[in-house]
Amino acid sequence: MRTILISGANRGIGLKIAHKLLKEGNRVSIGIRNLSSISNGILDPKEWSPNQLLINHYDALEINTAKKWIDNTKEKFGSFDSLINCAGVFSRIPFLYEDSERNEIIKTMNINFLSIWDLCRLSWEELVSSKNGRILTLVSMSGKRSKGDLAAYTSSKFALMGLCQTIRNNGWDKNIRLTVICPSWVNTDMAKEVKSTNKFDMTQPEDIAEFCSTILKMPKQSVPFEISLNCNLEV
Ligand SMILES: NC(=O)c1ccc[n+]([C@@H]2O[C@H](COP(=O)([O-])OP(=O)(O)OC[C@H]3O[C@@H](n4cnc5c(N)ncnc54)[C@H](OP(=O)(O)O)[C@@H]3O)[C@@H](O)[C@H]2O)c1
Repeated sequence: MRTILISGANRGIGLKIAHKLLKEGNRVSIGIRNLSSISNGILDPKEWSPNQLLINHYDALEINTAKKWIDNTKEKFGSFDSLINCAGVFSRIPFLYEDSERNEIIKTMNINFLSIWDLCRLSWEELVSSKNGRILTLVSMSGKRSKGDLAAYTSSKFALMGLCQTIRNNGWDKNIRLTVICPSWVNTDMAKEVKSTNKFDMTQPEDIAEFCSTILKMPKQSVPFEISLNCNLEV
């Protein structure tokens, strides 16, 4: 059994991961922006014991909420050994952006990159203490190659990929293993405007939850650094 922090677990990929890991008996501490967004769904707090599911306020743009989430988890569960970074935003800001779009670039970098750096940094002591820590981070195929002109999103994910490689290096001797998950389109709200691929042909969030569950059970010598998931042929 693991004790796992998951950001952005009120919907999308994070929600499916949290649900699967709870069903498997793990303790899950979720960090979400809007506490009421979780009720009446598959993570309804009434359906799960408070000894297994902890719901915390977390806004990726406010570092103090990350600190409180981590402190709260340590207080309620004693310790934790895994962190799954799912919170993220999409952006269509192109290379030749207008001045009025500059703030969206900064916000995208803050949510998709800097806040994950902070969550990993603030969790580090606990992950080291566990002697078997795991970090799983939703990057994207956009963190590996640039298709088209999604300059802000792609840059945030490339930065995140560089950060994850560096965290992997830092954690290696401390038995912390980090995995980046790099899907193309996944059937969630984030991809609902996509016309090029229908939602049934996209990777399903349940499939990513399956991978996460498996990775968390793997011994450190068999944890992959990267999982790329192509729903379309990329050559
Ligand atoms: N869907 C795809 O096609 C796809 C492909 C590759 C990679 N990814 C990556 O996978 C991750 C999850 O995406 P998804 O498909 O599950 O997207 P989603 O359905 O749009 O969900 C995004 C999640 O991030 C949370 N979030 C956004 N801004 C936040 C903030 N400031 N503070 C805290 N939480 C915040 C959202 O919370 P609210 O409900 O409060 O907004 C929501 O829980 C993201 O990093 C995304 O870039 C997605």
